Amino acid sequence: MTEEAQQAAVCVLASGWVTAGPETVSFEKEFASWVGAPEAVAVSSCTAAVELALLALGLPTGAKVLTPTLTFCGAVHAIVHAGLRPVLVDVDEETLTVSPEGVAAAARSGAAAMIIQHMAGYPANVTSLAEAAGLKTGSVIEDAAHGLGAAVGMQPVGSLSGATCFSFYATKALPIGEGGAITTGDPQLASRLRRMRLHGMNQDAWRRYLPGGSWQYSVEDRGLKANFTDIQAAIGRAQLRHLDRWQRCRAAVAARYDALLTAVPGIALPPRPESGRHAWHLYVVRILPEFGVDRNTTIEILAENGIGTSVHFIPVHQHPYFRRLLGDDACACLPVADRISPQLLSLPLHPALADDDVERVCAALTRIARQAG
Ligand SMILES: Cc1ncc(COP(=O)(O)O)c(C=O)c1O
Repeated sequence: MTEEAQQAAVCVLASGWVTAGPETVSFEKEFASWVGAPEAVAVSSCTAAVELALLALGLPTGAKVLTPTLTFCGAVHAIVHAGLRPVLVDVDEETLTVSPEGVAAAARSGAAAMIIQHMAGYPANVTSLAEAAGLKTGSVIEDAAHGLGAAVGMQPVGSLSGATCFSFYATKALPIGEGGAITTGDPQLASRLRRMRLHGMNQDAWRRYLPGGSWQYSVEDRGLKANFTDIQAAIGRAQLRHLDRWQRCRAAVAARYDALLTAVPGIALPPRPESGRHAWHLYVVRILPEFGVDRNTTIEILAENGIGTSVHFIPVHQHPYFRRLLGDDACACLPVADRISPQLLSLPLHPALADDDVERVCAALTRIARQAG
C-alpha cells in the first residue's frame, strides 16, 4: 500500500461518506481509462463480478458454462451460484490456458457461455477461443484476475469480450485489499450491472441522499450485495497512479528469471506470447522429473532458505466439493491438468522484488538441481 493510498483512505474516513459514492464514480472512470475500456463497474470482488456477469446473460437454469479446470475455485462457485452448470476444460501444457481444440471438444455437449482465464497474466486469445467454442464474444466472460495489463495483439484485456472481470485482492496487480471490477463496451450492460451489484435497486444510497434526491427507490432486477466502497475507491485511485511502473517492474523480474533459470536442468519456463503482452501476474515454472527433486520437496527446501512460493492451482476437479457436484465422469478426462499440476510452482514475483532477491531464488534452485544431480 502506497503512502498516498493510506492518506486517501484516511481522507474518505474523515469525509463522512464511506460507502459507494463520488470516489467510486471517479475510480470507475480512471480504471476504465487505464484498461482501455469504455465502462468499468466496481464491485466487491472478482468472484462477485463473474457471478453478476453470468446473471446478466439471463441463461436458463442449468445451462452449461465452460471453464478451465486449472483455475481458482471462485469463478466456478460463481457459475454454481448463478444456477448454471460448470463444464471443466483441460488446459494446454505450455500456456496453462484452455486451447481452441479443448474448448471445441467440451462445447460439443452444448455450451451457453464460457469463462476464459488469463492464467498468470498470459493473454488467452479470446476471439479464437470463442469461435472454437461456437460462441459469440458476448457469451464469453473473462476472469482477468491475473490479466490486468495483458493484451491480445494490440487489444488490451478488458476490451475483448462482453464482460471482463478483474480482482483488487491484496495479492493482485492493483492491490486494494478486496474488490473487483467488470469492464464492458456495452453501456446498457454497465448500467444493469450497477443496479444488480446493489440488490437490483435503481437508486444507490449516495443518489438518494444527495441534495434534491429522493428517499424512493425501486427494485428493478435481481441483485447481489456486491457494491464497492469509497474507501476502496480512494485506495484504488491512489494505487492506480503506480500501476504502469509496477507492471514494468513485474516484466523486468520475469526477464531476470528467464535469463537466470534457462540453464537450470528440469525447469520449464513460462512461455511468452508470440504477440500481445503478458501481464506477469505470476511467474509459474514447471518442475520436471529431470530436476531430480519433486515440486513439493522443492517448496520445502526453498522455504527452509526463507523463500516463500505458492502453487497456482490445484485443479478444480481435484477438490472434493466439485468432484461431488460434477461427478467422477466429468472429472475423469482432464489428463494434462492431472499430469502437470504436481509440477507447477509460482516463484516470488512482485514489483518491489530486487535483483538480489531474484538472484537468491535462482541460486537456491540451481543448488537444489546440482545436489540432486
Ligand atoms: C484466477 C482468479 N480468479 C478469481 C479470483 C478471485 O478474486 P477475488 O478474491 O477478487 O474474488 C482469484 C483470486 O485469487 C484468481 O486467482
